Amino acid sequence: MNDYTHRYGPVALVTGASSGIGRAFAVELAARGLDLVLVARRADRLRDLAAELTAKHGTGVHVLPEDLTDPGAPDRILDAVRDLDVGMVVNNAGFGVKGAFESGDPGALADLQTVNCTVPTRLAHGLVPALRRRGRGALLFTASVEGLIGCPYSAVYSASKAYVIALGEALWGELTPAGIDVLTLCPGATDTEAPAKQGIDPATLHHLMSPEAVVDSALANLGVEPLHVPSDHYRQSMEGLRAMPRRDALTAMARAMAPA
Ligand SMILES: NC(=O)c1ccc[n+]([C@@H]2O[C@H](COP(=O)([O-])OP(=O)(O)OC[C@H]3O[C@@H](n4cnc5c(N)ncnc54)[C@H](OP(=O)(O)O)[C@@H]3O)[C@@H](O)[C@H]2O)c1
Repeated sequence: MNDYTHRYGPVALVTGASSGIGRAFAVELAARGLDLVLVARRADRLRDLAAELTAKHGTGVHVLPEDLTDPGAPDRILDAVRDLDVGMVVNNAGFGVKGAFESGDPGALADLQTVNCTVPTRLAHGLVPALRRRGRGALLFTASVEGLIGCPYSAVYSASKAYVIALGEALWGELTPAGIDVLTLCPGATDTEAPAKQGIDPATLHHLMSPEAVVDSALANLGVEPLHVPSDHYRQSMEGLRAMPRRDALTAMARAMAPA
């Protein structure tokens, strides 16, 4: 067992591992020697990834196909990992809904709050006791730069990610003294399936990062800082906005985010 697997292994749980940033976490953690528990709805994607990582690195992989909007999903996941020594929890699954607040489908907005907020809270709550007993490990949350300021035309997503940031920062304060590294990751625009799923043409996005670069940057900052914005561009933009009077910052955001 190397230092990394001793500290964060032997098993990492990654939600949203069927694509994008979660898939990139799974690939990188397997390369670093961790076994994996992979969660998402698309079982075929998870099984293909498991086969690829087992063939390449000998990774032991548990595939847990779950729809995280199902109220029973978090308890089933916690049951499934009860006898595994999970040392790293990557709460990454999430999605956004863009458009005027009142035009959003109420069911979709409720699902967004469940997947983005309720599920990571429940999984962290269920898994932190074992991390505390070990006295080492990691808890990661994928939030977003949209959680750092109220983002017009992305209101519920932005609010959900503000929740994740507050949760992650609070747990950093509680768990760092117990030897657990907590990182809240705030990506800017990232080249995954997410933009297209929200009706955004990725070709119109500037300063896109690859999910692999986001994950490299996150893992390099785990145990270093509580909150990490991997993109230099978005870090500087957010610092600029947060230094402005709130009214001016939100006016600028509304202009930038307004539908064409
Ligand atoms: N891409 C960006 O620009 C960006 C920027 C900032 C933050 N983020 C955040 O990064 C995280 C990962 O997103 P991504 O960009 O990698 O997008 P993605 O490629 O669309 O991946 C989203 C992942 O979440 C899973 N997921 C979504 N709804 C689910 C549900 N109901 N049940 C189970 N799994 C579900 C998806 O799996 P299935 O569809 O197979 O279920 C997929 O694996 C999200 O939290 C997102 O908010 C993304």
